[in-house]
Amino acid sequence: MRLGTVTSTQDVARDLAVGSIVVADYQTGGRGRLERRWISPAGTALLVSFVLQPNPLLSLAAGVAAAEACGRGVRLKWPNDLLLDGRKVGGILVETTPEKAICGVGVNLTWAPDGAAELNLPREEVFGRLSERISQWVAMPAHQVLARWRQLSATLGRRVRIDVSGRITEGVAQDLGPRGELIIDGVAFVAGSVTHL
Ligand code: BTN
Repeated sequence: MRLGTVTSTQDVARDLAVGSIVVADYQTGGRGRLERRWISPAGTALLVSFVLQPNPLLSLAAGVAAAEACGRGVRLKWPNDLLLDGRKVGGILVETTPEKAICGVGVNLTWAPDGAAELNLPREEVFGRLSERISQWVAMPAHQVLARWRQLSATLGRRVRIDVSGRITEGVAQDLGPRGELIIDGVAFVAGSVTHL
């Protein structure tokens, strides 16, 4: 479904069946992880939500799919920010209901907020590749998703700070756990906001 202005593609997708895809030009209430806002002027970003079957590794699989769809050396910051030359170029928000998972992907194409990056590729090209890669990666076994995520990672091997509801930990991001947790100095984190140090 192609739409002009929506509150959020996530809101439209929530009422649709598994397999549906919603793309919009502009969002009046675009949202990101951790209750952040996602803002982009009309027509400058890829704004899309996929309605999928729930899957425990969906957010990492979607990150892998999105990094591959973007190309240009785009890498992943845990859990699934898309980085171009170390700056954020896109992000993924997965929201679940008991029956479905709404996987929202936003990529800055021709505009970016201060400090962020633009991909500068045509929307249809990135969207086409993303739709293809999402369906491939959500069907892959967990060990393959984790292995590909590790290859595309900008986080593993680095010193990081993680903020979990105001509780800060610093250390080396060593690996992913079997459910996609980030292991920092031997401790597994399932959620949080990571800064590369
Ligand atoms: C993040 O970086 O925290 C995730 C950003 C996700 C933004 C996309 S844009 C399409 C979809 N609709 C939304 O409101 N959010 C996601």
